[in-house]
Amino acid sequence: MSSVLKDKSILLGITGSIAAYKAAEIVRLLKRRGASVYPVMTQAATHFIHPLTLTSLAAQEASLDLFEMKRGRMEHLSLAQLADLVLIAPVTANVMGKIAHGIADDLLTTTVMATKVPIILAPAMDEGMYENAVVQANIRELKSRGMHLIGPEEGELASGEVGKGRMSEPPKIVDYAERILQSRGDFAGKLFMVTAGPTREALDKVRFISSYSSGKMGYALAEEGIDRGARIILISGPSPLIPPPQAEFYSVETALEMRKRVMEKFSAVDGVLMAAAVSDFRPKLVHKSKIKKNACTSLKLDLVQNPDILKELGRIKKDKLLVGFCAETSSLKEKAEEKLKEKNLDLIVANDITLEGAGFGVDTNIVLLMDRDGEVTSLDRRSKREVARKIWDKVKELMPA
Ligand code: C5P
Repeated sequence: MSSVLKDKSILLGITGSIAAYKAAEIVRLLKRRGASVYPVMTQAATHFIHPLTLTSLAAQEASLDLFEMKRGRMEHLSLAQLADLVLIAPVTANVMGKIAHGIADDLLTTTVMATKVPIILAPAMDEGMYENAVVQANIRELKSRGMHLIGPEEGELASGEVGKGRMSEPPKIVDYAERILQSRGDFAGKLFMVTAGPTREALDKVRFISSYSSGKMGYALAEEGIDRGARIILISGPSPLIPPPQAEFYSVETALEMRKRVMEKFSAVDGVLMAAAVSDFRPKLVHKSKIKKNACTSLKLDLVQNPDILKELGRIKKDKLLVGFCAETSSLKEKAEEKLKEKNLDLIVANDITLEGAGFGVDTNIVLLMDRDGEVTSLDRRSKREVARKIWDKVKELMPA
């Protein structure tokens, strides 16, 4: 069977780790599956493997120089443009740190900054370095920005010790690269709607009822969906986040506005991922001016229920795919099951907001996925982007053939 790597251009970054010698085998394996390989080395990498080795195996000159002109352009721009995938193997703690913090001071890191294609990192370092809190924080940052990490693994290290930090073996890395490229086409030609953020329900000219929702889960879903080939309509309540430029974006304020937009777009989409924390209630009456404290010693708010948008969609969904979310403080599984049935969903993503590292505002989530057949997947704490990846995996499984 022909590999998805066939006729693809892979930018292979090599950084200064002893594992750099294994890059030679990665070039071989990529070429064997039909890819063109463009090696880009850091200066440090040249201490571990000679550029000529990579040049010969790749049949492409290994690049190092940020200021060289090739293919009529600055090298980093032409590389960023021609690549279908960036794979950095091995990647050192230093280069991960640079990428995580937006430092671009050589050809490799500058190219990474300029590219829009998927980026795979295969770390290699000593166990002590790998366990360093700053390295772990950088890894989390890179993952939350949608980068793919493979390894490191437990095994023999350059120090002679056995521990975690060994780069994954080349065949495993190349299989992984194949899977990532494959997933780019998962939702090609499909249109999904994602809702995100809170809604705001005005009380008077200055105050509103809302929730702690930040929009992070919904925006991560939109980004991941786009990366996997879907067209995305993103409908968001107030959020400080920047919507992905490829999304068709609508900003809304209230639950009623959100409902209007969702209904307007529903007939065109293949599915909806309703991550928004829609306010269940709104004030019956919005005061025309500011409510004054000296007019009363206590204040009773008269609230009316907002429409349950997702429940409405559940009634008219036909074969469209519906994903709901629920934030609970107890009996997670029971409540998820109840809502899945009540709203006629294909999948529900439930999180217990009492857990540290889950729910509103934070960068990570701990969720339970329950599908329409009752299959449950529990995900431990991970970045919202990684949770989004798992949700889209499940959506793919549940999509009609
Ligand atoms: O019933 P509950 O509010 O827990 O359900 C949450 C799910 O329903 C979320 O997916 C949320 O976006 C959606 N929802 C809605 N309209 C509402 C309230 C919640 O679509 N008024």
